[in-house]
Amino acid sequence: MSHDTSAINKTMDKFDGHHSVWLFGYGSLIYKADFPFIERRPASINGWTRRFWQGSHDHRGTPESPGRVATLIPEEGAVCHGAAYLVTPEEFAHLDHREKNGYLRLAIDIHFDDGGAEEGLVYIATADNAAYLGDAPIEEIARHIAAASGPSGPNTEYLVRLAQSLREMGHHDEHVHAIEDHLARLQPLADG
Ligand code: SIN
Repeated sequence: MSHDTSAINKTMDKFDGHHSVWLFGYGSLIYKADFPFIERRPASINGWTRRFWQGSHDHRGTPESPGRVATLIPEEGAVCHGAAYLVTPEEFAHLDHREKNGYLRLAIDIHFDDGGAEEGLVYIATADNAAYLGDAPIEEIARHIAAASGPSGPNTEYLVRLAQSLREMGHHDEHVHAIEDHLARLQPLADG
């Protein structure tokens, strides 16, 4: 599958005719809501775990030197915490463009921290997209992130802002916070 998923996402018609749709964000969508929304609620989805396994050609890296950003990997029993936004369907034109580097819309049950659940959408970059990087040792992921930069800014900013947001929401994500720790150790080297 090509790394540009915008054309495929446009054909997603599951919520056609709806006045509003819930969108679950687990990566930059948690800390960077550059779209109007009706409501935002802390929420989670079941059976998925956050990993910095997706390459970024257009935001935190370039096609020649991709950054590493978050995607979700299926894992039985896992719970991924994030933020749910209630948006009008018109917002998906912008969102599909923003998430075009490998992410596909997937329908999913979103569980709100304060109770209740709704079916909504999440953007997931699966292993068959051309920008996918996959697993690597945590130290290597941290070194990769420390070196990458793209049109949206340094790759470290993505990681650090996500780690900070999760902390503020009261969640510890072992993978994200382990990369953050390694980055903090690398930083003095980068500064020196
Ligand atoms: C998300 O945040 O939900 C998707 C991945 C990203 O845009 O960082």
